[in-house]
Amino acid sequence: MHRFELCRPARAEAIADRAGCVQEGIHVANDKQFKLNTMFIGTRGVREYRETIAEWVSPADVVLEIGCEWGTTTTLLAARCKEVVGTDISPECIARARERFPEIRFETLDAFDVRAALDFGIPFTKIYIDMSGLSGYRSLLDVIALLTMYATVLQPKAIVVKSGALKQFASHCVAWRPTDARRHGT
Ligand SMILES: C[S@@+](CC[C@H](N)C(=O)[O-])C[C@H]1O[C@@H](n2cnc3c(N)ncnc32)[C@H](O)[C@@H]1O
Repeated sequence: MHRFELCRPARAEAIADRAGCVQEGIHVANDKQFKLNTMFIGTRGVREYRETIAEWVSPADVVLEIGCEWGTTTTLLAARCKEVVGTDISPECIARARERFPEIRFETLDAFDVRAALDFGIPFTKIYIDMSGLSGYRSLLDVIALLTMYATVLQPKAIVVKSGALKQFASHCVAWRPTDARRHGT
């Protein structure tokens, strides 16, 4: 639960300044929260989700898979990276995955418990997310919240997520650059 405190404007400004919220006397949204270096890759369906492995995973990578079920994609990841941990909220799935692929590490994890993911103490460079309930259009905000949380806390280079909603949304997004404005003389 967040705790909000009332304080005098000068103190509020000092706090905001430390958090990067004040620029030349102008209050702006906290810039630092947008300085994530993680790339987000939205895929539709399991075929696309697995196809990305060839493009996004390399031998030096340490990968976390969230929603591994019985470990099928985890084995594909294992074949291409240095280390992989497959995780799922279901202990039954994890037991089955361990039985099928004893050479791979599998752990129970609720994706929304990012603290538990941090407690693995592993510097993950890539994260794969395939959770039931994240594909529909109503789940877009949950997907974005989850991606932002993992990007902020674990700071991987990329997060690949199976979410048709995110893929659709991303394909209609363009990041406006200041140079675009200059080119048009505005
Ligand atoms: C479609 S299956 C994953 C298939 C797997 N990635 C593969 O490629 O074979 C979705 C999985 O998400 C898991 N899941 C659902 N909610 C979860 C949560 N909050 N945290 C972690 N896993 C979750 C389910 O238990 C299920 O095993």
